[in-house]
This record gives sequence, structure tokens and C-alpha cells, in this order.
Amino acid sequence: MADLNKAELIVDKAFKLAEADPRLYGSFIEHLGRAVYGGIYEPDHPEADGEGFRKDVMDLVRRLQVPLVRYPGGNFLSGYRWEDGIGPQKERPSRLDLAWKSVEPNLIGTDEFMSWARKIDAEVNLAVNLGTRGIEAARNLVEYCNHPSGSYWSDLRIKNGTKNPYGIRTWSLGNEMDGPWQIGHKTAYEYGRLAAEAGKVMKWVDPSIELVVCGSSNSAMPTFPEWEATVLTETYDQVDYISIHSYYGNSGDDVLEYMAQSEDMNRYISTVVSVCDYVQAKVRSRKKMMISFDEWNVWFHSSEADKKQEPWRIAPPLLQDIYNLEDAVLVGLLLITLLSHADRVKIGCLAQLVNVIAPIMTEPKGEAWVQTIYYPFMHASLYGRGTVLIPAVISPEYESKDFGPVLYLASTAVYNEESSGLTVFAVNRDPKKEMELSLDLRSFKGASAVDHIILDGPDPKAVNSAKAQAVQPRKGKLPVEESGSWTVTLPALSWNVLRFGV
Ligand code: AHR
Repeated sequence: MADLNKAELIVDKAFKLAEADPRLYGSFIEHLGRAVYGGIYEPDHPEADGEGFRKDVMDLVRRLQVPLVRYPGGNFLSGYRWEDGIGPQKERPSRLDLAWKSVEPNLIGTDEFMSWARKIDAEVNLAVNLGTRGIEAARNLVEYCNHPSGSYWSDLRIKNGTKNPYGIRTWSLGNEMDGPWQIGHKTAYEYGRLAAEAGKVMKWVDPSIELVVCGSSNSAMPTFPEWEATVLTETYDQVDYISIHSYYGNSGDDVLEYMAQSEDMNRYISTVVSVCDYVQAKVRSRKKMMISFDEWNVWFHSSEADKKQEPWRIAPPLLQDIYNLEDAVLVGLLLITLLSHADRVKIGCLAQLVNVIAPIMTEPKGEAWVQTIYYPFMHASLYGRGTVLIPAVISPEYESKDFGPVLYLASTAVYNEESSGLTVFAVNRDPKKEMELSLDLRSFKGASAVDHIILDGPDPKAVNSAKAQAVQPRKGKLPVEESGSWTVTLPALSWNVLRFGV
């Protein structure tokens, strides 16, 4: 057996998929575990700024160039009273958060979070509670945030210290309403009607906003994809995006089976696109529905520890997954999958951002440090802006138990005309063999290889910590050109970023 896989990639700028919406590189902060308290906010930390936000954490977030952050939940959202989180901090109530069996002190609310988001230069996708609340609370929140002045809620915002409206563009209509675990779980029809009516009046308050309606919590939900069909039938005219979520985990020791899981995301998106287009035809609309994949990541490492957590504490250490190299490569595969659907997926939110299934971790009163998954996400966000091309991928394949034939090579290419750059993202799924990749850049005559960034390592289970960065990107050998074809080696089980000047 050869100790090397051979694969080929043909990239041509004539084959355009779509402009990558920068919001594909969004993320998510929920009032959950140590994401907010002890994560972005730790007023007695030496790095805290005047508002109590950790500057070291903000620096790490800025390096990711996250354009949008979804807030405040998640499951937390479905029991949240947003009015508890505004006004003088000392007067705010502490409440039981039933979703995570925690105590929510409400020290951070809408105004503080908007201030934090400005500091990291991100938009906020603000979510309204359609679990325990409804139309009135939702339209009031839009008025509080986006109406200039001269009404009860807009004047209250001004009284609370923010003169100009926030102008929040993207709003989510609830969270995972298909899930029995959700506070105020509904049938697709019940939710669809409520979302349509809430969305209608939210847009009456501010017609410039865009709305995201809840699709399925994952592709294994018994109600998928009928949920999408029913919800979209009820809401098609009001909404602009359908939200879907998915988390992946490694249940065994079969790396190739784990690496095949991006196929679930691929098929899930394709099915949701089909349902969107079916409903578009059914309701005779001219609008194309877009997708907001606003929760995605690897989530399984912390499951057992979380079962043992004491309830009713402020900021318990929940969902603190520590990610290894394999997880980072899977995150790379998921990013390639999102980019490969950039014509329909316009928003993506890596869930989450700090301490909770997150690329950034903090030690109480101590360091902020980055996990393995930080790197592929950063590379995609920095170098994956521009026009997503449709490359031809020619690769040997393997048989996955769950997904059938899967290619060893996963790849996509993004062309940025403005910066004259072409980036090829590539994963070699094989844990044992290197891959010799031939790149045919036919329409990019005179291209020059600029960089080859690799994330790999001898131990797929290696992790980072506050003390040691065992998994970090390194520079690889640049692709070499010979008679119009470029050749490069992708190490076994690796995430690769190949950058060309064109
Ligand atoms: O991100 C963690 C949780 O996962 C969110 O609260 C919920 O929406 C999803 O089930």
C-alpha cells in the first residue's frame, strides 16, 4: 500500500459560488457557565477596563475579527426577562435560570453587552424570548434598542445612558423552539404563528431589521425537516433567515469516522435549502430564504462533568470542553463546509466564544489562553473573505459507517480581488498518510505562493492549556510550480491554509 494519498484540486475564477458574507465568521455569547461572568466580564481582574470587561479577552476576540455575536442565548433566552438587565445595576434582580440551573445576577444586560460588542467591533444578533414571553416584550426590546427617542422604551434607553439608538440589524425569534428541553417548547405551527406575529410588529417598530426564525436544533430531531416546512409556511413573508444548529462529538476511537461528520453538516444544509425552496414555491414568493447556521461546534468533552455540577450557582464552570487537535481539524472541515454553501448560508456562529465550548478560555483572576479550535476559525475569518469559488476536488475516498463514501481531501478556495489574494483551505482527513496535492490554478496565471499554514501534530489528542500551547499552527513548505501545476504536501490529519498572490 502506498504511504501517500494523491489528490488534485482545480481552481478557476470563472466558477464562482458566491461572495462570502463576513457574518459567516460570527460567534455566540450566552448567559451560561463562565461565558459572561468570569469570561468577558471580571471586574476585579487586573485586566478589567472601566466597565469590568477583560482587555486580554477582548484582544484575543479582536484577533479573530468576529463581525457578529449572537446574544443572550441559547436555552437561557427562553426564560429571560430583558427588562431585568437594564437600569442601575444595584437594583437588578437575581433570578433562577431554569435552563442551566444557575443563578443569573443580571449585572450584564443589553446595554453592557452592546458596549462590549462595540469594543470588539462586532454587530450583535439580538435574540427575543419566544419561550415564556411574546410579541409585546419583543417589540418593546426593538423600540428600546432601535427607536431614536420620544417613546417610553427609547427614552428609557436614553435615561440609562445611551443617547443614540443601537441600530441592531439582525434579530433572532427565539431559540431551538423544536426542542423539548426548551422552556416554552412549541409545535412547529404554534411557534410559526407566534414568530410571524412577533416578527411582523418588530418590523413595524423598525422596518430596517432582519429576522432569523428557528429551524431545527440538529438533523437528528424527529421533527426535522417537517419543522422547517411548517415554520417557513407560517413565516415566509416576515423572515429573512432560517436558523439551524448542530454540534459534533467523537463517540469512539475512529478518527476517520469522526472526520466524516462534516458530511452531516453538508447534507443538513442541502436539505434545509431544498425545504426553503419548496416553501418559496408553495407560497409563491420571489424571496430566497437564507440560512443562519448560528450554533455549530464540537461539544462532548464536558458532558460527564456537567452532570455532576451543583445547581443554583452564579457562573458555574459548565460546558468547559478542552479541545484537542482532532477537534480543531473537524472545526476546519466544518468551516470548509459552511464556505461551500456560501450561496445560501449567510450567517454562521461558532458556539460559543469564551469559556463555554469556546476557542478562548480564561483562568479566574489569571490568564486568557486559546484552544486548538481558535486557529482554524481565525484563519478562515482572516483569509476567507471574498468570492468563494467552486473547485473540482479529485481525491481517493474511504467508506464511512454513517455517511458512505467520503473524500480524504476536503477543500475550498476564496478569491479576494481587492487584495489580489487566493486562499485554498484544505484538510487531509487521513490520520496515517500524507497527501500529495496537485493544484491546477489555470485562470490565475503568474500566481505566487505566499504562505502555507499547517495545524497538525504527532498526537491527535494533544490539547492546549493556560500553561502550554502544544497545538499551534506552523509554517509548511510552499507549493512548488512545475509546468503550470502546483504541488504541495498536506501532512496526515491536518488543517492547511495555502495563500497565493494572484
Ligand atoms: O450552546 C449551548 C446550547 O446548545 C445552547 O444554549 C442551545 O441553544 C443549544 O442546545
